[in-house]
Amino acid sequence: MEDVSERESDLPSSIIEKLTRIASESKETISLSIGEPDFAMPRALVKELKKIIRQNKKNKLNQYTSGQGIPALREAIAKKLKEENKVKVNADEVLVTSGSQQALFAGFLATLDPGEEVILSNPGYLGYIPAIELVSGVPSYVPLKEEDDFALNPDLIKKAVTKKSRVILLNSPSNPTGTVLKKNILEEIADIAVDKDLYIFSDEAYEKLVYDGSKHVSPASLNGMKDYVLTFQTFSKSYALCGFRLGYAAGPKKIIDAMQTSTHYMSLCAPHVSQLLGLKALSLPKKYVETMRKEYERRRNFLVPRLNELGLHTPMPKGAFYAFSNITPTKMKSLQFCNKLLKEAHVAVVPGTEFGSAGDGYIRLSYATDYKQIVRAMNRLESFLKKR
Ligand SMILES: Cc1ncc(COP(=O)(O)O)c(C=O)c1O
Repeated sequence: MEDVSERESDLPSSIIEKLTRIASESKETISLSIGEPDFAMPRALVKELKKIIRQNKKNKLNQYTSGQGIPALREAIAKKLKEENKVKVNADEVLVTSGSQQALFAGFLATLDPGEEVILSNPGYLGYIPAIELVSGVPSYVPLKEEDDFALNPDLIKKAVTKKSRVILLNSPSNPTGTVLKKNILEEIADIAVDKDLYIFSDEAYEKLVYDGSKHVSPASLNGMKDYVLTFQTFSKSYALCGFRLGYAAGPKKIIDAMQTSTHYMSLCAPHVSQLLGLKALSLPKKYVETMRKEYERRRNFLVPRLNELGLHTPMPKGAFYAFSNITPTKMKSLQFCNKLLKEAHVAVVPGTEFGSAGDGYIRLSYATDYKQIVRAMNRLESFLKKR
């Protein structure tokens, strides 16, 4: 008898996880592989967490919450979306989830019948394709080009639309390229969605991490788009709260309700303690996120010019905390480059192929790592490249 289902055996094993494990087991290794803030939890949230636990009886911490999420948190999220993103939703159009990854999964479950298609960029965040395929959906790829700074081309999206298309998936600021989509591009994509009657899934995990005065625009805020867009956001990146597993989706009520039915059977509700903490996070003064954002920007301003100096062409990312570097001058394949760099120079970076076939010839470097470590890693990379 087969031990594991075919569906499960077909899932890719994560190279990032393997690299992160190797990096954590070796003191010598500097990891630029992980997509997780290196900052400690903001102090105000540590204090709040202690208070939440002290008052655990009153808070009924050991109990489930409503499947859609605590009403006060959904109200606060709706307010945040209105004030910060110009997205007008009611609290009953918000679903609180165990991280935005769960929200995306539930979103695909709610919108895709088997064989229906999601149009998405190649390269793109590695969590999308397994989630689409697990619900028997089909990814339809739109290639990104380095010379366009890895921005999505609306003409290529238009060409990718078929009778089976249901969703256009956007991720701005983007993992792995750091690209921020401009308003005019988003408007063109919005027109396609309306014209072809498609949903837009807008993954805004890195919405608060934008640089050089770039603006993050939520597609749901564009004229007439409210009924077409599901917005996905998270507490993981903005507030360095990855481990609390708290995210949410907001959008058309019928989809949110359908998503809640499936999250009910996955996890019943998002962790109670995290929801109470999230409520506090949304009330924090802007300086908490701004301090982290500024530090990411300082690291980016060192890292990206240095990569270019070393001959690895890297467009200046306008958001998130990743640089996507062209390694073709080394004549190595992405995975081979990463394995050699890890073995010889003890620096962990991620092969571009982890993010799709169009990532071959690239590596992703995360600057969610201490500044001095990034400096050291670049010195090691320089010696490594000199030996080629
Ligand atoms: C683009 C993007 N979307 C979604 C997620 C999932 O984040 P979480 O489930 O922690 O909210 C990640 C995590 O790295 C990501 O990079």
